[in-house]
Amino acid sequence: MSPSGFEPGVDLDRVRAETDLRQIEFHAELPSTNDRALQVADQPGAVLPALILAEEQTAGRGRGANRWWSGPGALTFSWIIETAPLGLSTRHRPKLSLTAGLAVCEALQKLLEESQPPALRFQLKWPNDVFLQQRKLAGILVEMPPGRPERLVVGIGVNLNNSLEAAPPDVREAAVSLIDVRGEPVSRTEALVAILRRLRACVEQSVADEDRLMRRWEERSLLRGSMVQLDLGPRTVVGMCRGIDADGALVLQTEYGLERFFSGVVGSLE
Ligand code: BTN
Repeated sequence: MSPSGFEPGVDLDRVRAETDLRQIEFHAELPSTNDRALQVADQPGAVLPALILAEEQTAGRGRGANRWWSGPGALTFSWIIETAPLGLSTRHRPKLSLTAGLAVCEALQKLLEESQPPALRFQLKWPNDVFLQQRKLAGILVEMPPGRPERLVVGIGVNLNNSLEAAPPDVREAAVSLIDVRGEPVSRTEALVAILRRLRACVEQSVADEDRLMRRWEERSLLRGSMVQLDLGPRTVVGMCRGIDADGALVLQTEYGLERFFSGVVGSLE
């Protein structure tokens, strides 16, 4: 039960028992779990790893100026970690969004395959999105608390049991929810536990076995083999996507040859 008396739609005891979390904070409503997670991460005595989970967000944030819209039934949470125990150095951080995206793909894939044939394929869209049937199912927002570079916040939003039928038209066009695809809900507790466990395993592999992790995100790459338009702010680059390299960079065959990009907004797909 949360301090407000609101009964969470997730079994927090089970999440506690089946993950390595040392602290869970549940909110019926929050502006943004990442905002709250950044506050928690800023506290000197923060007990980590911690989870901030919200039943609903009123001001969910995405990369840049993006908003994250999601109604009741979605999974919206932030994972707060200490980087040193996981062996994460500054070199690994640019890959963390992709690593988290891969964890979401693999966790949901496995969860659904236990209950039905593997008809659905979850894909990674560089640098921080999970796609299903060519539309966005989940988004990742990794942030570093200012003044605490030894900690990180990994915010994840998954359209799980929140039907998008009543969502604004632009959201419906670009996004997808698992319940609208399958026609039946998924246990939010099971999905959350599966994602958190996979997340930890993938983060450990991003340090211990980078090549294997790279092969797995390559296998799920939505952009590979497509013409990509990448908005870099001052300029736009167009090229054939050749994949994602071991550093998490997008590799494009442009008019200048093979180029690697660590940031940018993918504008259009072919
Ligand atoms: C994106 O689309 O660019 C990333 C979206 C990330 C959304 C999640 S929901 C939980 C966490 N809290 C936020 O405010 N954002 C992230």
